[in-house]
Amino acid sequence: MKGVILAGGLGTRLYPLTKVTNKHLLPVGPKPMIYYPLETLVNAGIEDIMIVTGGNNAGDFLRLLGNGKEFGLKDISYTYQEGEGGIAAALSLAEHFVDGEKVAVMLGDNIIEGSMREAVHRFEEQGKGAKIMLKKVPDPRRFGVPELDGEKVVRILEKPENPPSDFAVIGIYMYDGQVFDFVRTLEPSARGELEITDVNNAYIEQGSMTYEILDGWWADAGTSFESLLRASNLVMKDGAGRPGD
Ligand code: G1P
Repeated sequence: MKGVILAGGLGTRLYPLTKVTNKHLLPVGPKPMIYYPLETLVNAGIEDIMIVTGGNNAGDFLRLLGNGKEFGLKDISYTYQEGEGGIAAALSLAEHFVDGEKVAVMLGDNIIEGSMREAVHRFEEQGKGAKIMLKKVPDPRRFGVPELDGEKVVRILEKPENPPSDFAVIGIYMYDGQVFDFVRTLEPSARGELEITDVNNAYIEQGSMTYEILDGWWADAGTSFESLLRASNLVMKDGAGRPGD
């Protein structure tokens, strides 16, 4: 299984912290933000990883992460997104890298306490389709929110005014090789982006979407100053972020 980390965007919600650097290079506790999703994928047993970045500071990723040796990798693949376009547009740049295999996609500002190893294993056993991870949150309106019917996801609403559940769809998605065909059918949303939520809804309509509820805390570090601070606090309290762990 391949891994893709999406680390582009202009980070305007964190301006001026992102005036001269990429959001995913900002500190979260003792490490740059991008370290956490990279470690999560590696710990889940994924060794073939591509980072999609963009903007003026893309070269800093290479200087920071190099060939991935520090993370136990043989190498890291990189690609460059010109301009903006949304999560699904960024993902489409990884099509040749994924090359028809299954892929775990992680947003570069998402940090989790626990491991993805079991969920990735269950997705490998799943056959075709996709899997999303959910977490109960106090403020679902900020996220993609699933409408659930027992074991089934009925649909996902992106930042709904009236959330159909207390869950957020977190930024870790598992897809089979069809994902790029679904991305090709997308139209830009009201915010002018190709939405990952629309990709997920395509899998739901096909009847091939599963979900799991994440154990441990989840932080979306990059949406606001509060979320960045919360992520740092969680990482420091946990002790999990200290170098050498
Ligand atoms: C994105 C997704 C949203 C998801 C969130 C998780 O939101 O669109 O569905 O819940 O990531 O971090 P964005 O960060 O683009 O506002």
